[in-house]
Amino acid sequence: MSTSTQDSATAEDFSSGFRKLNAKHDSGPPPERVKGAVSEIYNGVASWSTQGDFWNWGLHDDEVLREIRSLIPGFDDHGTDGFSEQLYFQALRRIPIPLSDYAGKKVLEVGCGLGEGLNFVSRVVDASQVVGLDLSQAATDRANARLSRGERLRFVQGDAEDLPFADGEFDVVLNVESSHNYPDLGGFLNEAARVLKPGGYLSHIDLFIDQSHELLTRIKREDGPLEWLEDVDVTERVRAAIRKRLAPGSFYRRNFSAKKLSVKTRIMMGRGGSHLAGADFVGHRDALDRVLEATRIRPRRAQQSYHSYRHHIARKKP
Ligand SMILES: C[S@@+](CC[C@H](N)C(=O)[O-])C[C@H]1O[C@@H](n2cnc3c(N)ncnc32)[C@H](O)[C@@H]1O
Repeated sequence: MSTSTQDSATAEDFSSGFRKLNAKHDSGPPPERVKGAVSEIYNGVASWSTQGDFWNWGLHDDEVLREIRSLIPGFDDHGTDGFSEQLYFQALRRIPIPLSDYAGKKVLEVGCGLGEGLNFVSRVVDASQVVGLDLSQAATDRANARLSRGERLRFVQGDAEDLPFADGEFDVVLNVESSHNYPDLGGFLNEAARVLKPGGYLSHIDLFIDQSHELLTRIKREDGPLEWLEDVDVTERVRAAIRKRLAPGSFYRRNFSAKKLSVKTRIMMGRGGSHLAGADFVGHRDALDRVLEATRIRPRRAQQSYHSYRHHIARKKP
């Protein structure tokens, strides 16, 4: 991710049928190098992931937990600590569509990882089509092999900044803890808006460093294709989940130590798995950052730490 931003101040671009956002990163490593490294890392993580694994830090909120349990009793009693599902439920529950009103609707998740989040989503809402897209071929292959259900739930490999879908295909686009990896956040938001139907919703939930927060703030001020409805700081709720996951003897730690990881992977991730992306939220360095910097793919950031985790809801303008 680039560390600095500027207004590209170009003319409004109507080439794909709607006004594009102009805010762009102005420097940083070549985007293709970042994407190559990110997909290699997640292909590697997919090879040692086990069934039921999510790739996010989760969220802890008593009200969210109560709501999920009322829909799926005992959902967190078997093979999960439930925090990642709570993060997905937060992403869904704030969209101004009642959970019972998804019949006939199409939902896309960009950056779906192993597809566990979308699998959970497809149990909560009765959408007619649910599609997950991810840069990692290994992740989407695995998601298709384990979770796909024909048209109702399927996964495709692709790039968030160049979505392989037609204009106006989706009612809802979800983006969960993924966009901090994209070299061009504005490019992704243009694409999300393009594939949404007019009046469709984007639910975006992610970690921010100062620079990425400034960039999004600037994008939100532009007269772009999205109307920004909600910006909720969920930092403390995410920190609560991370702390519980990093606590000695937690479900997360027990699962991580049970995995058969190579020595290299263990060193990269930190012995207990506490150095995964976002761990610096509670005082640990981020492994993905360290790898990108050690391999000189990304320059060292002036301000390293993620400081907030925010949830945004936007609507595609008519
Ligand atoms: C932290 S994981 C989150 C995965 C999933 N949303 C979850 O919560 O379990 C970030 C995901 O974003 C994906 N990703 C990163 N850059 C991407 C891009 N340019 N296009 C699509 N997916 C991307 C990664 O491959 C990875 O699966």
